[in-house]
Amino acid sequence: MGEQALAAIILAAGQGTRMKSDLHKVLHPVAGLPMLHHLLESLSAAGAARQVVVVGARREQVEASVAGRSVQTAHQAEQLGTAHAALQAKDALADFDGVAIVCFGDTPFLRPDTISRLTDRLSAPDAPRVAVLGFVPDDAKAYGRIIADEQGSIAKMVEFKDASETERAVKLCNSGVTAVRTADLWPLLERVGNDNAAGEYYLPDIVMLALADGDRAVVVETDPDELIGINSRAELAEAEAIWQARRRAQAMADGASLIAPDTVWFAHDTVVGRDVVIEPNVVFGPGVTIADNVVIHAFSHLEGATIASGCSVGPFARLRPGAEMQEGAKVGNFVEMKKAVLGPGAKASHLTYLGDATVGANANIGAGTITCNYDGYFKYQTVIGENAFIGSNSALIAPVKIGRDAIVAAGSAVSRDVADGELRMVRAEQLVKPGWADRFHDAMRRKKREGK
Ligand code: UD1
Ligand code: CA
Repeated sequence: MGEQALAAIILAAGQGTRMKSDLHKVLHPVAGLPMLHHLLESLSAAGAARQVVVVGARREQVEASVAGRSVQTAHQAEQLGTAHAALQAKDALADFDGVAIVCFGDTPFLRPDTISRLTDRLSAPDAPRVAVLGFVPDDAKAYGRIIADEQGSIAKMVEFKDASETERAVKLCNSGVTAVRTADLWPLLERVGNDNAAGEYYLPDIVMLALADGDRAVVVETDPDELIGINSRAELAEAEAIWQARRRAQAMADGASLIAPDTVWFAHDTVVGRDVVIEPNVVFGPGVTIADNVVIHAFSHLEGATIASGCSVGPFARLRPGAEMQEGAKVGNFVEMKKAVLGPGAKASHLTYLGDATVGANANIGAGTITCNYDGYFKYQTVIGENAFIGSNSALIAPVKIGRDAIVAAGSAVSRDVADGELRMVRAEQLVKPGWADRFHDAMRRKKREGK
């Protein structure tokens, strides 16, 4: 973090027409979090205490999305270009004096250390007036180009549309991320014109103006994966792939085993402990925390779930929001949990639904147990005591309590509370007719032979 105060200006006023979406481009999620928020998180981590999001097209969507964060918004009524957009933040930052970093809402993977590297560059002995973040992607597409020398001293910034063949052949591209002191930024932005191929006010033109003033402008290079710009659904999928690859590598570096890493999908906030094994084809929605020594078997889907150490999940388990597994608990195949706590050592090994339920320590929930938590209008609680044994194919009709050490016989439909230590059997009395089937078969076979 530099010694100067840092403010961020995030441009997000553009239409994003290439997404072909009713949702604003910067709100499309990567790993379950709107891309704009990925960027805001990184900026906060880099110490950008002030953040101004420039909104325009579909501003109500963007404003609603950032409402819970400490960010300001500025309005760009007409999308006249990136320099014009950045200038709209001037009023919001009128009381701010320090370094501003301008970034684009559709370039969300900027890392905090890269932000610091770029902003610190302004304080280097050669005192550049503008520092631009550049990258060399595999495919330079229609990115703006940076013409610079070996030392990173910029000679020219040129948009693809305006570039000559020779300039287009240059591999160093403009990410758009630009650091300038606010004292320099506003006057530079005010001088930018729109005499170019797009008829727009280009942010990179502030570099040209600084150079014309006899000042230095420099490029700081970083990893292309960090600077992918998302303009289409295909690029969104590419961004997701990049994010996931990085997260999988991180999980493994932190001590988790991923047997087939490419088939595990994390959310932006997944927390994974040490000595966790994640088998193939596991999907994490938001809000999952996994402690140490947990196994997540293949084909499980988890969201809003907390899993304590020593637990085993799946294969084919579904943990929905509010699922909590305490130390050493187990859910097996085709088990679904929602707003339910499975106590320490408790097991639901097969084909079970636990919703709005609390299960005590070491209870055993038999195959096919269902907590009937909903009457079509309201939801009700099921409470199961420690060491209780729920026989297979039982329906626990909530609200209902099953006492500790109680046994519910298989096939029971329990609608009244069961006391501690009780056996509850709720099924029809059995009819026993020895030899009846033999007599039946004999009689029927005889009839058939006689052609009746
Ligand atoms: C821009 C850069 C280009 C760079 C590329 C990197 C300019 C002129 N070009 O091109 O050099 O290689 O990003 O991804 O800066 N926006 C506004 N208001 C506007 C125009 C744009 O808020 O009037 C916002 C957009 O919502 C978007 C960002 O600025 O988040 C970038 O705009 P976009 O049109 O995507 O620029 P590119 O053509 O990608
Ligand atoms: Ca773009």
